[in-house]
Amino acid sequence: MTSMNQYKLSEKVRNFISSPRKMLINGQWVNSVSGKNFNTHDPATGDVIVAVAEGDKEDINRAVAAARKAFDDGPWSSMTPTERERCMYRLADLMEQNADTLSELEALDNGKNVAIARAVDIQVAIDYIRYMAGWPSKIMGSTLPLSVPYAPGAKFLGYTLKEPVGVVGQIIPWNFPALMCAWKLGPALASGCTVVLKPAEETPLTALYIGELICEAGFPEGVVNIVPGYGHTAGAALTAHKDVDKIAFTGSTEVGKIIVKAAADTMKNVSMELGGKSPAIILPDADLSVAIPGAASAIFFNQGQVCCAGSRLFVPDSLYDQVVKGLAEVANGMKIGSGLNPENMVNPLVSQIQFDRVMGYIESGRAEGADIVAGGGRRGDKGYFVEPTILGNTNRDMKVVREEIFGPVVCVQRYKDVSEIPKLANDTIYGLGASIWTRDISNVVKIVPKIRSGSVWVNCHNVLDVAMPFGGYKQSGFGKDMGKEALDSYLETKSVCIMS
Ligand code: NAI
Ligand code: MG
Repeated sequence: MTSMNQYKLSEKVRNFISSPRKMLINGQWVNSVSGKNFNTHDPATGDVIVAVAEGDKEDINRAVAAARKAFDDGPWSSMTPTERERCMYRLADLMEQNADTLSELEALDNGKNVAIARAVDIQVAIDYIRYMAGWPSKIMGSTLPLSVPYAPGAKFLGYTLKEPVGVVGQIIPWNFPALMCAWKLGPALASGCTVVLKPAEETPLTALYIGELICEAGFPEGVVNIVPGYGHTAGAALTAHKDVDKIAFTGSTEVGKIIVKAAADTMKNVSMELGGKSPAIILPDADLSVAIPGAASAIFFNQGQVCCAGSRLFVPDSLYDQVVKGLAEVANGMKIGSGLNPENMVNPLVSQIQFDRVMGYIESGRAEGADIVAGGGRRGDKGYFVEPTILGNTNRDMKVVREEIFGPVVCVQRYKDVSEIPKLANDTIYGLGASIWTRDISNVVKIVPKIRSGSVWVNCHNVLDVAMPFGGYKQSGFGKDMGKEALDSYLETKSVCIMS
């Protein structure tokens, strides 16, 4: 282990990163079959945090076999719903007892602000496991009023059973590592599925820590298996595996397409939460004291590494100068630095690759004629810090407006008339989120149905709640995370017909 960062880490975190981390298969912490490890890095310094077992095809095979056994003949599927609930509540309680440790580990591995990790990432992860823990005893089929016209005189009883889809492969990204883990595990476990989870190679640590809590919570062996590794090896092996019934993925639209194609060979059930280029739309009557800081946090929260970030900002001509000036003041006033200091509101991007990608987009914006109203540069000479950046006077043909940047970079576009809004908002291949900022309820009623996206926020942005389904339209994917709807994609419906 290298000594990284100037910040003193807690004893629990220091212990956790003091030796290479193993993977969780069938209730055991094991090395990879190949014996290989990979390193995870501190984005604030670029230093190695710790080595992690590198899963590949053979490890995935073992993990899937364990999950298969736990599903087909193991105790998980034969447990009563209330027993499964108790396991999940115990996990939520343990996550709560370890919330500070999880937050610190998340800040270290991802780079994000530790206080925000505690208040948002980890808190929502805990709340969501608890929300889902309440479901097992409440998942119900229905009784069906059958007619069967071609069997005159016969009596039938028809009903549906809701059953778990089986073994689920879950592939998650690095922007909200622990939260994504909870989003995926929650509905899978509540519905009675067993899981092989592959965390992102950039940020495996909190998933592995949650793995320890899963063991402590008393889940039977094989119910949750956690295999860190790369996408093109471990991820691809999981996607192609014939004994996996479903793949749940959050990540880039590009990889989502690869996974959907690979899953087609074995006709897996798939759910996809993909990229976005979400509009934030300030209407002429908006309260700018709310809309300006709101639009800033819509893009700068989590360094813009948010699938529903408000990355296209639409401002009426009449308010353009005022809004852009206000936004620049917010951007220029944000403290930049390591996420381990909670005062730093702009933290590093997750990796060198993401840093290069985002800097490349800023250059492209400059080359295509956008105004650099704020930011535009790197901060410091180590770590992956990008200044909060505002690109002004952008237009629909620019690459920065068309493609997901996934960094703290907002593209501001002018518009003339409110009637243009739906067309402007929908001028993208994506459809994940959108916000409108207005004081006029009739604007809300008119515009909301015309926006082709899975979430629409009014006078807020990026608000996610355990009770509220979240997911995409168009190339942002299909299937929902969170809310009751999240369960749907983990359940099969069996029709039963009894003739008497
Ligand atoms: P990615 O989509 O490559 O990675 C997400 C997950 O997919 C990781 O666990 C990765 O190991 C896995 N993966 C990659 N290739 C795979 C394959 N062939 N088969 C199975 N699994 C595979 O995202 P990446 O490369 O980290 O970021 C690229 C861009 O994706 C970002 O700039 C951003 O635009 C977008 N992105 C969107 C996210 C979202 O929340 N919707 C999250 C992360 C990235
Ligand atoms: Mg990738």
